[in-house]
Amino acid sequence: QTLWPVIAIDGPSASGKGSVAERVAQAFGFHYLDSGALYRLLAYAAHTRSVAWNDASKLAQIAAVMEIRFENGEAFLDGEHVSAHIRSEQMGKGASEVAVHPEVRTALLQTQRNFRQAPGLVGDGRDIGSVIFPDAALKVFLTAAVETRAQRRYDQLINRGETASYETILQDLKQRDLRDTQRSSAPLVQLPDAMLVDTTKMNITQAVDMIIAAFKKTA
Ligand code: CDP
Ligand code: CDP
Repeated sequence: QTLWPVIAIDGPSASGKGSVAERVAQAFGFHYLDSGALYRLLAYAAHTRSVAWNDASKLAQIAAVMEIRFENGEAFLDGEHVSAHIRSEQMGKGASEVAVHPEVRTALLQTQRNFRQAPGLVGDGRDIGSVIFPDAALKVFLTAAVETRAQRRYDQLINRGETASYETILQDLKQRDLRDTQRSSAPLVQLPDAMLVDTTKMNITQAVDMIIAAFKKTA
């Protein structure tokens, strides 16, 4: 069985993973796995079923039966278009709460591995290089200063026509960073074999070009 190449892009919230990963995938004609969306979908599915985000066993049950589909960057849960629902800050918070449970992470493991199809995959998240695809051809740790990430998230929300407070976003991001790095199950780590890409003073194109060049060298 052919193991198609994987580019793993892990890093903290709002470092630019999604934007960068999508373009790298486009450049090589690879599939794209937005693993954060799976945790967001689960948080949303639990919310609609009145299941609490700390109820690990019920969450794992939902994860095992929920039907997810991505089409042109849009997310569907049990046939319903839910992109707008799962992109909210509330579901971002919910995602980071459901993601701490080992039962939940196990329930979503195979779903993620199934995205590895011809001719290759770019996956972004927190544990793509450490747990989901430890044999990735290229591992990237994408990061940026927390104040820069807060400003980007703020601009993103304002551009969407939502109201936002920079201070609240900054505090939320710091909490999210702590939860993602301190949890015992698949914490966010900078792997020794990962290439560090710090986008604090880098635009998306520069980050994308660096990753494309690094992947070409692995071939
Ligand atoms: O866009 P942002 O980085 O804020 O979030 P996301 O990538 O959509 O992920 C939402 C939450 O899911 C994160 O805060 C993580 O706690 C969790 N997550 C995870 O634990 N493992 C992954 N591979 C991806 C996301
Ligand atoms: O997926 P993740 O949460 O890591 O980040 P994202 O949603 O891809 O990026 C968050 C925001 O930062 C987006 O609006 C990007 O356009 C912006 N961004 C940027 O301005 N400069 C970068 N080098 C990377 C991202």
